[in-house]
Amino acid sequence: MTTAHDLVGKIAFTREEIIQLLSAQDENELERIRQAAERILLDTCGDEVYYRGLIEFSNICRCDCLYCGIRKSMKDVDRYELALDAIVESAQWCAEQGYGSVVLQSGERTDERFISFVQEAVAAIKQTTVSETLPHGLGITLCVGEQTRQSYERFFSAGAHRYLLRIESSNPALFSRIHPPQQTLDSRIRCLRDLAEIGFQVGTGVMIGLPGQTVEHLADDILFFRDMDIDMIGMGPYIPHAGTPLGNEPIPDEEVRTRQALLMIAATRLVLKNVNIAATTALQALHPQGREEGLRSGANVIMPQLTPVEVRKNYLLYENKPCVDESAVQCRGCLAGRIGSVGRTIGYNKWGDSRHFAGKSG
Ligand code: 5AD
Repeated sequence: MTTAHDLVGKIAFTREEIIQLLSAQDENELERIRQAAERILLDTCGDEVYYRGLIEFSNICRCDCLYCGIRKSMKDVDRYELALDAIVESAQWCAEQGYGSVVLQSGERTDERFISFVQEAVAAIKQTTVSETLPHGLGITLCVGEQTRQSYERFFSAGAHRYLLRIESSNPALFSRIHPPQQTLDSRIRCLRDLAEIGFQVGTGVMIGLPGQTVEHLADDILFFRDMDIDMIGMGPYIPHAGTPLGNEPIPDEEVRTRQALLMIAATRLVLKNVNIAATTALQALHPQGREEGLRSGANVIMPQLTPVEVRKNYLLYENKPCVDESAVQCRGCLAGRIGSVGRTIGYNKWGDSRHFAGKSG
């Protein structure tokens, strides 16, 4: 398993081989893995990068995840919820820019008011973004946490067709170490299964560089994505937030976490082949060209910020989150430059669905 060519031709990887990929440190070896992942991406998905405009519409959260800057116990966070009009307006702007899809993300709530609000927002975005260029309106991804199957069904009927729910870690011991006891791995897996059965394109992912995390854990995460038949992956480095219980635990330094995150993207591309993989904002928090490096390592999705600047400072999942002061307009120009700089094109006015998902239903 040394040449890029060998890696590209490989259909199946064993756990040992994945561990070996993730353990690479030598520059030449890293470059070979990266090139192989890029090749597989171009062969299976093409060179287009798809945009998902990100609207973080509320930071009110019932969960108390030990790593998260908007966890329920963070008393000094100003809690907000955008009005329906503001969400729809951002989504319309997104459609006008040719972004094609939007992600509605928020803290987790399960009360009826919240569920019907999300349902209403999805329906309103669908209704108002149909045009000649987008005959079915914007593609809508939801990222609003663990919900009952009935709630997921309501979201799907309203018009959302993709759902992101990170597993954070597929290892039971590590999952328990970073979450309060009420949150369980089994419950998250139940959610991922429900979402797939309902017909969503399902995304998951993990944080990379968590306290106590090993390359074996990460290799098992990739096998988990494979075995769960996941369509989309969003993952990035873990970035400590000083106000959280995990914030002061020892972790690998930024360079190591960045390298690990890029290797995870590349290895996931090599193993899963035709899924969508996001170059996440967290990558850029650790490295000024983090997202470009993500694209070069096999990612094909980027999530431009659409959250109104006034509330963005209240959605700090981690410290040094980039682009906090940049308006959506500034973000647009910045990203187009970044994508062009790595020789890729932007898939304007397309949903850019996961080819993996298309393969399942076809
Ligand atoms: N560092 C990196 N990513 C984080 N997330 C939450 N807190 C952090 C952190 N400190 C990620 C989680 C969650 C997503 C919305 O943000 O993976 O699923």
